[in-house]
Amino acid sequence: MPPTVYSLCATRIVGIKITHYAAVLKLFILKATGSKEFFTEMADPMKKITLILLSLLLGVSMAAEKKILVVYYSRADENYTVGNISKGNTEIIAEMIAKKTGGTLLHVEPAKEYPKGYDDCINVAKKELAQDARPAIKPVNVNPEEFDEIYVGYPVWWGEMPMPMFTFFEKYNLKGKTIHPFVTHEGSGLSGVARLKKVTGANVTPGLAIYGHVAQNERDKAQKEVDKWVK
Ligand SMILES: Cc1cc2nc3c(=O)[nH]c(=O)nc-3n(C[C@H](O)[C@H](O)[C@H](O)COP(=O)(O)O)c2cc1C
Repeated sequence: MPPTVYSLCATRIVGIKITHYAAVLKLFILKATGSKEFFTEMADPMKKITLILLSLLLGVSMAAEKKILVVYYSRADENYTVGNISKGNTEIIAEMIAKKTGGTLLHVEPAKEYPKGYDDCINVAKKELAQDARPAIKPVNVNPEEFDEIYVGYPVWWGEMPMPMFTFFEKYNLKGKTIHPFVTHEGSGLSGVARLKKVTGANVTPGLAIYGHVAQNERDKAQKEVDKWVK
């Protein structure tokens, strides 16, 4: 498919579900021809050709469903109020969002793990924030620049995003993309969004904040919050 045709229909009618195909095609034809008789005048070869072309265009649009990425940082081990956990709070939410949207999951992982103890971890994180550090991260196997919509999740650390998220965002150009932020926290609520906007230059939509202990221990409640928020 030539890129020009692809991008034309992708931008005009991206995201159309297969179940809507017939209805949309009919509407499209009515709009284009202004004639309800179109369907009964199919003897005209020009109209047949038009119909075939429109079908092709709409068919291509279905292949151009929006690509969704769910990128997050999350830390297991000892954490505030939840004790020692095997799966991080934010990771639980990220998985719910990926399941609901069909998005691709991407876990940002620091090259050097944070301490397993909560107190040690908050001390390291405090120092990194004060130094505006960029901790190295492990290589990732997807390119975030290839996605249309990006869900970005992180635990609030000292009122901000954990510094490995800055390392991650400075590697890619996400300017103009749509970002839906979600956080887990233990009282600060939705935090770090101003710097997320600045570092990505993306269009950041209203975010979701869920208590970490709710994500960890009250999954039905967390799922309801996710379902309400995800478009
Ligand atoms: C280093 C560190 C700093 C934190 N700072 C905050 C904070 O400023 N505000 C807040 O509400 N919670 C804070 N928390 C709690 C976490 O945001 C919360 O436990 C979160 O759910 C952890 O998610 P995770 O398991 O995905 O890492 C902090 C936790 C850690 C480990």
